[in-house]
Amino acid sequence: MNIQWYPGHMTKAKRQMQEDLKLIDLIIELIDARIPFSGRNPDIRTMGNGKARLIILNKADLADERLNRKWMEYYKEQGAQVMLTDARNRGSLKQIQPLIQEACKEKIERNLRRGIKNKPIRAMVAGIPNVGKSTFINSVSGKASTKTGNKPGVTKGKQWIHLNKGLDLLDTPGILWPRFDDPEAGVRMAFIGSVNDEILQLEELSLKLIEYLCERYSGVLKERYDVDESLESAKILESIAVNRNCLAKGNEVSYAKAAAILMDEFRSGRLGRITLESPDEVTEK
Ligand code: G4P
Repeated sequence: MNIQWYPGHMTKAKRQMQEDLKLIDLIIELIDARIPFSGRNPDIRTMGNGKARLIILNKADLADERLNRKWMEYYKEQGAQVMLTDARNRGSLKQIQPLIQEACKEKIERNLRRGIKNKPIRAMVAGIPNVGKSTFINSVSGKASTKTGNKPGVTKGKQWIHLNKGLDLLDTPGILWPRFDDPEAGVRMAFIGSVNDEILQLEELSLKLIEYLCERYSGVLKERYDVDESLESAKILESIAVNRNCLAKGNEVSYAKAAAILMDEFRSGRLGRITLESPDEVTEK
Protein backbone atom coordinates (compact mmCIF):
# COMPACT_ATOMS: atom_id res chain seq x y z
CA MET A 1 0.00 0.00 0.00
CA ASN A 2 1.67 3.20 -1.15
CA ILE A 3 0.21 6.33 0.43
CA GLN A 4 1.40 9.78 -0.58
CA TRP A 5 -0.31 13.05 0.36
CA TYR A 6 1.27 16.44 -0.04
CA PRO A 7 -1.30 19.03 -1.06
CA GLY A 8 -0.10 22.42 -2.34
CA HIS A 9 -0.99 24.35 0.80
CA MET A 10 1.62 22.36 2.71
CA THR A 11 4.40 23.58 0.39
CA LYS A 12 3.21 27.11 1.04
CA ALA A 13 2.99 26.53 4.78
CA LYS A 14 6.49 25.09 4.89
CA ARG A 15 7.86 28.11 3.06
CA GLN A 16 6.10 30.43 5.51
CA MET A 17 7.50 28.48 8.47
CA GLN A 18 11.02 28.76 7.06
CA GLU A 19 10.56 32.52 6.76
CA ASP A 20 9.19 32.77 10.29
CA LEU A 21 12.22 31.01 11.76
CA LYS A 22 13.94 34.36 12.11
CA LEU A 23 11.18 35.47 14.48
CA ILE A 24 11.49 32.62 16.95
CA ASP A 25 13.80 31.29 19.67
CA LEU A 26 12.40 27.79 20.01
CA ILE A 27 10.70 25.10 17.96
CA ILE A 28 8.12 23.10 19.90
CA GLU A 29 7.84 19.97 17.79
CA LEU A 30 4.77 17.84 18.44
CA ILE A 31 5.04 14.18 17.49
CA ASP A 32 2.29 11.60 17.89
CA ALA A 33 3.38 9.22 20.66
CA ARG A 34 1.88 6.30 18.72
CA ILE A 35 4.37 6.81 15.86
CA PRO A 36 7.28 8.64 17.48
CA PHE A 37 9.65 7.86 14.63
CA SER A 38 7.77 7.65 11.34
CA GLY A 39 5.46 10.48 12.43
CA ARG A 40 8.38 12.87 12.76
CA ASN A 41 8.42 15.16 9.75
CA PRO A 42 12.01 15.29 8.41
CA ASP A 43 11.38 18.81 7.12
CA ILE A 44 10.46 19.98 10.63
CA ARG A 45 13.29 17.94 12.16
CA THR A 46 15.88 19.76 10.07
CA MET A 47 14.16 23.14 10.17
CA GLY A 48 15.94 25.91 12.04
CA ASN A 49 19.14 24.00 12.50
CA GLY A 50 20.74 25.27 15.70
CA LYS A 51 17.49 26.65 17.17
CA ALA A 52 16.48 25.41 20.58
CA ARG A 53 13.97 22.60 20.39
CA LEU A 54 11.45 20.91 22.66
CA ILE A 55 9.95 17.60 21.58
CA ILE A 56 6.42 16.88 22.76
CA LEU A 57 5.26 13.29 22.42
CA ASN A 58 1.56 14.07 22.37
CA LYS A 59 -1.44 11.74 22.64
CA ALA A 60 0.65 9.77 25.11
CA ASP A 61 -2.64 8.75 26.72
CA LEU A 62 -3.41 6.73 23.56
CA ALA A 63 0.05 5.15 23.35
CA ASP A 64 1.50 2.11 25.07
CA GLU A 65 2.93 3.16 28.46
CA ARG A 66 5.93 0.83 28.24
CA LEU A 67 6.86 2.19 24.82
CA ASN A 68 6.22 5.77 25.96
CA ARG A 69 9.01 5.31 28.48
CA LYS A 70 11.31 3.78 25.86
CA TRP A 71 10.70 6.60 23.39
CA MET A 72 11.39 9.19 26.10
CA GLU A 73 14.73 7.51 26.73
CA TYR A 74 15.43 7.33 23.01
CA TYR A 75 14.98 11.06 22.52
CA LYS A 76 16.77 11.96 25.76
CA GLU A 77 19.76 9.90 24.65
CA GLN A 78 19.87 12.07 21.54
CA GLY A 79 20.21 15.09 23.83
CA ALA A 80 16.68 16.41 23.24
CA GLN A 81 14.39 18.10 25.74
CA VAL A 82 11.34 15.87 25.57
CA MET A 83 8.05 15.33 27.39
CA LEU A 84 4.97 13.12 27.15
CA THR A 85 1.63 14.88 27.04
CA ASP A 86 -2.09 14.52 26.67
CA ALA A 87 -2.71 17.98 25.28
CA ARG A 88 -6.36 17.87 26.35
CA ASN A 89 -5.24 17.62 29.95
CA ARG A 90 -3.56 20.76 31.26
CA GLY A 91 -2.10 18.81 34.18
CA SER A 92 0.15 16.88 31.80
CA LEU A 93 1.70 20.18 30.63
CA LYS A 94 3.00 21.26 34.02
CA GLN A 95 6.64 20.49 33.27
CA ILE A 96 6.64 22.57 30.13
CA GLN A 97 8.00 25.81 31.61
CA PRO A 98 11.16 24.29 33.13
CA LEU A 99 11.80 22.35 29.92
CA ILE A 100 11.43 25.50 27.81
CA GLN A 101 13.82 27.32 30.14
CA GLU A 102 16.28 24.47 29.83
CA ALA A 103 15.98 24.31 26.04
CA CYS A 104 16.49 28.09 25.76
CA LYS A 105 19.15 28.33 28.48
CA GLU A 106 21.83 29.74 26.20
CA LYS A 107 19.57 32.39 24.76
CA ILE A 108 18.32 33.45 28.21
CA GLU A 109 21.89 33.68 29.55
CA ARG A 110 23.00 35.68 26.52
CA ASN A 111 20.12 38.09 27.08
CA LEU A 112 21.01 38.45 30.76
CA ARG A 113 24.63 39.26 29.90
CA ARG A 114 23.28 42.04 27.69
CA GLY A 115 21.07 43.31 30.49
CA ILE A 116 17.84 42.03 28.88
CA LYS A 117 15.54 40.50 31.48
CA ASN A 118 12.16 38.78 31.13
CA LYS A 119 12.10 38.86 27.35
CA PRO A 120 9.36 36.46 26.26
CA ILE A 121 10.48 33.26 24.56
CA ARG A 122 8.97 33.05 21.08
CA ALA A 123 8.17 29.51 20.07
CA MET A 124 6.86 27.98 16.86
CA VAL A 125 4.50 25.04 17.43
CA ALA A 126 4.96 22.57 14.57
CA GLY A 127 3.85 19.07 13.67
CA ILE A 128 1.98 16.90 11.21
CA PRO A 129 -1.79 17.33 10.73
CA ASN A 130 -3.98 16.17 13.60
CA VAL A 131 -1.10 15.72 16.05
CA GLY A 132 -2.82 18.06 18.52
CA LYS A 133 -1.17 21.45 17.92
CA SER A 134 -4.32 23.51 18.43
CA THR A 135 -5.34 21.53 21.49
CA PHE A 136 -1.84 21.95 22.90
CA ILE A 137 -1.86 25.72 22.32
CA ASN A 138 -5.31 26.03 23.86
CA SER A 139 -4.24 24.09 26.94
CA VAL A 140 -0.97 25.96 27.42
CA SER A 141 -2.71 29.29 26.99
CA GLY A 142 -5.78 28.31 28.98
CA LYS A 143 -7.98 29.63 26.19
CA ALA A 144 -10.09 28.06 23.50
CA SER A 145 -8.50 30.36 20.96
CA THR A 146 -7.25 28.24 18.09
CA LYS A 147 -9.39 26.21 15.81
CA THR A 148 -9.30 22.44 16.34
CA GLY A 149 -10.77 19.83 14.10
CA ASN A 150 -10.15 16.30 13.01
CA LYS A 151 -9.91 16.95 9.28
CA PRO A 152 -6.20 16.94 8.54
CA GLY A 153 -4.83 19.63 6.32
CA VAL A 154 -7.19 22.47 7.26
CA THR A 155 -5.25 25.61 6.40
CA LYS A 156 -4.91 28.25 9.08
CA GLY A 157 -3.45 31.73 8.86
CA LYS A 158 -0.43 32.89 10.82
CA GLN A 159 -1.40 33.23 14.43
CA TRP A 160 0.59 34.43 17.43
CA ILE A 161 -0.72 33.62 20.87
CA HIS A 162 0.76 35.88 23.54
CA LEU A 163 0.73 34.31 26.97
CA ASN A 164 1.50 36.21 30.11
CA LYS A 165 3.98 33.53 31.18
CA GLY A 166 6.93 34.92 29.24
CA LEU A 167 5.97 32.81 26.26
CA ASP A 168 4.63 33.67 22.81
CA LEU A 169 3.45 30.82 20.63
CA LEU A 170 3.26 30.82 16.85
CA ASP A 171 0.67 28.38 15.56
CA THR A 172 1.47 26.73 12.20
CA PRO A 173 -0.54 24.53 9.84
CA GLY A 174 0.08 20.79 9.99
CA ILE A 175 2.51 19.71 7.32
CA LEU A 176 3.63 16.39 5.91
CA TRP A 177 6.53 15.98 3.50
CA PRO A 178 6.69 15.48 -0.28
CA ARG A 179 7.46 11.75 -0.30
CA PHE A 180 7.22 9.01 2.31
CA ASP A 181 10.26 6.93 1.35
CA ASP A 182 9.22 4.19 3.73
CA PRO A 183 5.73 2.99 2.64
CA GLU A 184 5.10 1.85 6.23
CA ALA A 185 5.45 5.46 7.40
CA GLY A 186 2.60 6.54 5.10
CA VAL A 187 0.43 3.68 6.34
CA ARG A 188 1.10 4.52 9.99
CA MET A 189 0.26 8.18 9.44
CA ALA A 190 -2.97 7.09 7.78
CA PHE A 191 -3.74 4.78 10.74
CA ILE A 192 -3.58 7.67 13.20
CA GLY A 193 -5.62 10.04 10.99
CA SER A 194 -2.91 12.42 9.78
CA VAL A 195 -3.64 11.74 6.11
CA ASN A 196 -6.94 12.90 4.67
CA ASP A 197 -9.27 9.87 4.74
CA GLU A 198 -10.82 11.00 1.46
CA ILE A 199 -7.71 9.90 -0.45
CA LEU A 200 -7.47 6.55 1.35
CA GLN A 201 -8.84 3.10 0.68
CA LEU A 202 -10.15 2.62 4.21
CA GLU A 203 -10.93 -1.07 3.72
CA GLU A 204 -7.42 -1.86 2.60
CA LEU A 205 -6.03 0.27 5.40
CA SER A 206 -8.15 -1.51 7.98
CA LEU A 207 -6.85 -4.89 6.75
CA LYS A 208 -3.32 -3.63 7.37
CA LEU A 209 -4.32 -2.51 10.84
CA ILE A 210 -5.86 -5.91 11.57
CA GLU A 211 -2.61 -7.62 10.50
CA TYR A 212 -0.61 -5.29 12.68
CA LEU A 213 -2.81 -5.75 15.73
CA CYS A 214 -2.92 -9.54 15.44
CA GLU A 215 0.87 -9.60 15.28
CA ARG A 216 1.71 -7.03 17.97
CA TYR A 217 -1.31 -6.71 20.22
CA SER A 218 -2.81 -10.13 20.14
CA GLY A 219 -6.10 -10.41 22.04
CA VAL A 220 -7.17 -6.81 21.42
CA LEU A 221 -9.49 -7.59 18.48
CA LYS A 222 -10.82 -10.69 20.17
CA GLU A 223 -11.72 -8.72 23.25
CA ARG A 224 -13.32 -5.78 21.44
CA TYR A 225 -15.13 -7.57 18.61
CA ASP A 226 -15.19 -11.20 19.68
CA VAL A 227 -13.40 -12.36 16.52
CA ASP A 228 -11.11 -15.29 15.88
CA GLU A 229 -7.69 -13.75 15.42
CA SER A 230 -6.30 -16.85 13.70
CA LEU A 231 -8.42 -16.08 10.61
CA GLU A 232 -7.01 -14.10 7.71
CA SER A 233 -7.54 -10.35 7.96
CA ALA A 234 -10.39 -10.11 5.40
CA LYS A 235 -12.30 -12.75 7.39
CA ILE A 236 -11.66 -10.85 10.60
CA LEU A 237 -13.03 -7.67 9.01
CA GLU A 238 -16.07 -9.64 7.88
CA SER A 239 -16.59 -10.94 11.42
CA ILE A 240 -16.38 -7.39 12.78
CA ALA A 241 -19.01 -6.38 10.20
CA VAL A 242 -21.29 -9.23 11.24
CA ASN A 243 -20.80 -8.67 14.97
CA ARG A 244 -21.44 -4.94 14.63
CA ASN A 245 -24.37 -5.44 12.31
CA CYS A 246 -22.76 -3.52 9.44
CA LEU A 247 -25.05 -3.99 6.49
CA ALA A 248 -25.15 -2.47 3.02
CA LYS A 249 -27.95 -2.43 0.43
CA GLY A 250 -29.67 -5.78 0.04
CA ASN A 251 -28.56 -6.82 3.54
CA GLU A 252 -25.07 -7.59 2.36
CA VAL A 253 -22.24 -7.37 4.84
CA SER A 254 -20.62 -3.94 4.61
CA TYR A 255 -16.84 -4.11 4.81
CA ALA A 256 -16.71 -0.34 4.39
CA LYS A 257 -18.77 0.27 7.53
CA ALA A 258 -16.75 -2.23 9.53
CA ALA A 259 -13.51 -0.59 8.34
CA ALA A 260 -14.79 2.83 9.38
CA ILE A 261 -15.71 1.51 12.84
CA LEU A 262 -12.34 -0.18 13.30
CA MET A 263 -10.36 2.90 12.23
CA ASP A 264 -12.44 5.19 14.41
CA GLU A 265 -12.17 2.96 17.48
CA PHE A 266 -8.44 2.55 17.03
CA ARG A 267 -7.87 6.30 16.60
CA SER A 268 -9.91 7.24 19.62
CA GLY A 269 -8.18 4.71 21.87
CA ARG A 270 -11.18 2.41 22.32
CA LEU A 271 -8.99 -0.57 21.38
CA GLY A 272 -6.62 0.33 24.20
CA ARG A 273 -3.26 2.06 24.29
CA ILE A 274 -1.33 1.10 21.19
CA THR A 275 2.04 2.25 19.81
CA LEU A 276 2.89 1.29 16.26
CA GLU A 277 6.67 1.21 16.49
CA SER A 278 9.44 0.71 19.01
CA PRO A 279 12.89 2.29 19.32
CA ASP A 280 14.50 -1.16 18.94
CA GLU A 281 13.11 -1.57 15.41
CA VAL A 282 14.24 1.91 14.47
CA THR A 283 17.76 1.30 15.72
CA GLU A 284 17.84 -1.95 13.72
CA LYS A 285 16.74 -0.10 10.56
P1 G4P B 1 -3.95 19.80 14.98
O1 G4P B 1 -4.17 21.24 15.39
O2 G4P B 1 -2.52 19.38 15.15
O3 G4P B 1 -4.45 19.48 13.61
O4 G4P B 1 -4.76 18.88 16.00
P2 G4P B 1 -5.98 19.25 16.96
O5 G4P B 1 -5.52 20.04 18.12
O6 G4P B 1 -7.09 19.80 16.13
O7 G4P B 1 -6.36 17.80 17.51
C1 G4P B 1 -6.86 16.78 16.67
C2 G4P B 1 -7.71 15.83 17.48
O8 G4P B 1 -6.88 15.17 18.44
C3 G4P B 1 -8.82 16.50 18.31
O9 G4P B 1 -9.87 15.56 18.41
C4 G4P B 1 -8.20 16.64 19.69
O10 G4P B 1 -9.15 16.71 20.73
C5 G4P B 1 -7.41 15.35 19.76
N1 G4P B 1 -6.24 15.44 20.67
C6 G4P B 1 -5.29 16.40 20.70
N2 G4P B 1 -4.36 16.11 21.62
C7 G4P B 1 -4.73 14.94 22.19
C8 G4P B 1 -4.14 14.11 23.20
O11 G4P B 1 -3.05 14.37 23.75
N3 G4P B 1 -4.82 12.96 23.50
C9 G4P B 1 -5.98 12.62 22.88
N4 G4P B 1 -6.56 11.47 23.25
N5 G4P B 1 -6.56 13.37 21.92
C10 G4P B 1 -5.93 14.52 21.59
P3 G4P B 1 -11.20 15.71 17.58
O12 G4P B 1 -11.98 14.49 17.81
O13 G4P B 1 -10.86 16.10 16.19
O14 G4P B 1 -11.87 16.98 18.17
P4 G4P B 1 -12.65 17.12 19.57
O15 G4P B 1 -13.86 16.29 19.35
O16 G4P B 1 -11.77 16.61 20.66
O17 G4P B 1 -12.89 18.59 19.62
